[in-house]
Amino acid sequence: MIRINENYTKLKASYLFSDIARRVNTFAAAHPGQPVIRLGIGDVTEPLPPVCVEALHAASDEMGQRATFKGYGPEQGYAFLREAIAQHDFAARGCAIDPDEIFVSDGAKCDCGNIQEIFAHDLRLAIPDPVYPVYVDTNVMAGRTGPNVDGRYEGITYLDCTPANGYIPAIPTAASDLIYLCFPNNPTGAVATKAQLAAWVDYARRHRAIILFDAAYESFIRDPRIPHSIYEIDGAREVAIEFRSFSKTAGFTGTRCAFTVIPKSLKAWDAAGHEHSLHAMWNRRHTTKFNGVAYPIQRAAAAIYTDAGRQQTRALTSFYLENAALIRKAMLQLGFTCSGGDNAPYIWVNVGRDSWEFFDLLLNRAQVVCTPGAGFGKCGEGHVRISAFNSRDNVVAALERIAQALK
Ligand code: MLT
Repeated sequence: MIRINENYTKLKASYLFSDIARRVNTFAAAHPGQPVIRLGIGDVTEPLPPVCVEALHAASDEMGQRATFKGYGPEQGYAFLREAIAQHDFAARGCAIDPDEIFVSDGAKCDCGNIQEIFAHDLRLAIPDPVYPVYVDTNVMAGRTGPNVDGRYEGITYLDCTPANGYIPAIPTAASDLIYLCFPNNPTGAVATKAQLAAWVDYARRHRAIILFDAAYESFIRDPRIPHSIYEIDGAREVAIEFRSFSKTAGFTGTRCAFTVIPKSLKAWDAAGHEHSLHAMWNRRHTTKFNGVAYPIQRAAAAIYTDAGRQQTRALTSFYLENAALIRKAMLQLGFTCSGGDNAPYIWVNVGRDSWEFFDLLLNRAQVVCTPGAGFGKCGEGHVRISAFNSRDNVVAALERIAQALK
């Protein structure tokens, strides 16, 4: 009799955004005359920047010619893209990251989810709450937790993000081995200062821990004091892995391209105390399980780093930030307190009541979809996340409908 990985039975039946999609589809099918505006999942709506479209066309033409056709590329990504990333995302911000330390992939979600494979099973996890569910669920699947008791898995140190701490988790007093951090934060939109990140780097160095730093939303940072990369902090090269994505920066949610940075200076140890390179381990994993991102997609990603590309992606993220400002203003006017929306595309609204109930209320009375905070963790209860990813017309219409519904 074939047996299952029983860790899966500890999970909730479906992934948060699948659950929401199912509820919204049921509502839409039952109310065909009431168009729904989706400000739930952070999926982009605006078309790709023209530089990316031109690069896709040109690269497709190359693929159609014998002389320029390409089969398998390097699993880690083409040098032209890794060099552009190293120069523009890191060297330009004073971070010493070598192109060889960059692994191009088809998504930060996959990388954030897969990275735990290279670490031991019995290590101590520290994960913020609320949080992007992928970090927790992939560790549950891998068997690093006990059962879920009252909304929390045994075996995880949860880092509470609450109104009282401005949604920035405090450094735990106990030791942890693997720490997940995300800034600008999904779902709260909070950003961390240099001093706050430096305290985490210091903690990780003291405990010989590793920080998994999700910076998928860094291109939305407008405050010049806020670091874009954890490598802007001294010593981070010894303790941090960083995840980046083109999904929200350049509208690539359907195009798929991202990258992970694993400095060669990152070390971890086996049970016998021997030192290992995490870069070498991830390289082994990546080359075994992944065959690289399509050449035209990597060309489209590299186009973002041209002058025109940088202007176009800046305009794109600014467009969504203008949506975010409208949402934030409207929710404040309705008397809610909010975080995020200024350096992040998400507005975290303290609604002061059951978050699924509020989700149902907005869906039924306003035909607007948000994300219930409880879906991101216990501390998310009492909040909803509103995404700025939609057209201006839809955002304006959604805000009018919400105001009407809450009268
Ligand atoms: C979200 O809505 O949190 C994101 O779209 C999820 C993702 O990027 O995978």
